[in-house]
Amino acid sequence: MPLTFDDLLDRARSLPRDGRRAILGIAGSPGAGKTTLAERLVRELNGDGEPWVAHVPMDGFHLADAVLDRLGRRDRKGAPDTFDAAGYAALLRRLREEAYGDVVYAPGFERVLEQPLAGAVPVEPAARLVVTEGNYLLLDTGAWARVRPQLDEVWFCEPDEEERVRRLVARHEEFGKSHEEAVAWALGTDQRNAALVAAGRDRADLVVPDTVLRDGCPAAPRRGAGARGCARPV
Ligand SMILES: Nc1ncnc2c1ncn2[C@@H]1O[C@H](COP(=O)(O)OP(=O)(O)OP(=O)(O)O)[C@@H](O)[C@H]1O
Ligand SMILES: [Mg+2]
Repeated sequence: MPLTFDDLLDRARSLPRDGRRAILGIAGSPGAGKTTLAERLVRELNGDGEPWVAHVPMDGFHLADAVLDRLGRRDRKGAPDTFDAAGYAALLRRLREEAYGDVVYAPGFERVLEQPLAGAVPVEPAARLVVTEGNYLLLDTGAWARVRPQLDEVWFCEPDEEERVRRLVARHEEFGKSHEEAVAWALGTDQRNAALVAAGRDRADLVVPDTVLRDGCPAAPRRGAGARGCARPV
């Protein structure tokens, strides 16, 4: 029987044990549906009650454009060495070690500015489960190798490849690229990064099938949830 979204919900719900905070990672190639899946999980798990699940995107650890310019890496923004991987691993460790004290603030990523934004994601002490998602959670090179040991489980999103590229192009267009630029970026820079991500697939605890990712957009987001991307035609 292929995994269903409800199976994933049950599995995520069971991760925090003995009151301890658990961290679930969701990995996958650019445009694989990681953020959509994470948002849906968090929304469903929190329901209408007190929030006990938080969403911390790896995207908040993008280096700022000014730094990328200085390093000469702006043209491959999104590659592993255009993130603060050590900072991300350190934040995950803090989220584990400081699970009962103050709010821990994580950075977010502002898609219109395409820049990281410090202090954008508060993780309350009540969060017993943190869902974190991004491309390179399973990379085993450099500082990225410090990420996996901080995670209780990592799930790997594996959508239909054509559909992934189609959505990625649509999203690049939506955020200002021309069609030609969007296709070139999706098949160039994004595709090189996708190959690196795919190499981590076998280190995942489970593979999220296309069937789950395809119906990933619920009709009516609940209280406080953003409808990001879901209702839009792509
Ligand atoms: N089931 C779905 N139906 C329609 N569109 C979807 C669905 N799932 C995701 N999308 C759209 O596909 C695009 C990529 O999804 P999403 O942003 O979740 O992927 P991602 O893996 O987080 O991408 P990135 O690596 O760039 O952060 C988005 O525009 C999103 O709205
Ligand atoms: Mg995303």
